[in-house]
Amino acid sequence: MRNIYRNDWAWFIRRFEAISSINLNAYKRPQMERRINSFMRNHSLADYHELIQRLQSDQSMYKRFMEHLTINVSEFFRNPPHWRVLEDTIIPLLIKPQYRLKIWSAGCSSGEEAYSLAITACEKRIELREPILATDLDAGVLEMAAKGVYQPGQLQGIPEQIKRKYFEENKGSFKITNELRSLVRFKQHDLLKDPFPRDYDLILCRNVVIYFTEETKQELYGRFAKALRPGGVLFIGGTEQIFNGRQLGFNSISTFFYQKM
Ligand SMILES: C[S@@+](CC[C@H](N)C(=O)[O-])C[C@H]1O[C@@H](n2cnc3c(N)ncnc32)[C@H](O)[C@@H]1O
Repeated sequence: MRNIYRNDWAWFIRRFEAISSINLNAYKRPQMERRINSFMRNHSLADYHELIQRLQSDQSMYKRFMEHLTINVSEFFRNPPHWRVLEDTIIPLLIKPQYRLKIWSAGCSSGEEAYSLAITACEKRIELREPILATDLDAGVLEMAAKGVYQPGQLQGIPEQIKRKYFEENKGSFKITNELRSLVRFKQHDLLKDPFPRDYDLILCRNVVIYFTEETKQELYGRFAKALRPGGVLFIGGTEQIFNGRQLGFNSISTFFYQKM
């Protein structure tokens, strides 16, 4: 009986969705299969059946699997030249007198992106309409993000004076200041299932859709277009591109930046 599950991807996807509510059909199968197989090898799990059993019975195994699957590497000011375009060109385009920005970091991982936005907001004296919304599917990374504690290696590339201003050192770790923390609101949100909030001036969705199928990406970009106010901007990852932007209602205003028409 057990052997029928051995390599049955469709069976695995159905069972995995039942326990996690994540539909892996929306993700690129070869990448996912590679990750899942390497996880099974590392944990000496013989087949999908055994993997599902362990995920159901062992909370810490489930947590490790989710961490392995969602690939949540992040960095402060990831791709610095693109952040310079954000600061020097895009933000001035979005700001008007008496106007306060509404910003969403979608797929925020452990918070580096959202806190980079918060630092930019403080440094450039940008008024926010509400705290920056920072969302992710993975509850584990959101917990880390909310704590806002980082190791010295994670702060590499951040200028010393910014580090001193926005982080407090404690026993070799660096904690985000309360002031910066108050500018970000973290929330669990699945981009593939949950409704999108509306009326954003700026949305960052970077290095998230790389795991999704082409069809899913198109659908997501369409939903981001709806989540922006006219004139609002979507900032995407350094290896990403929106091919049919015009059809979705976007104007490409700089590489990696798409403005809602
Ligand atoms: C590589 S990290 C990107 C972090 C950050 N945006 C950056 O560029 O540094 C990808 C994040 O996407 C999240 N993610 C994957 N699928 C998601 C989904 N369906 N909904 C929301 N977040 C998702 C993962 O949990 C992970 O934290």
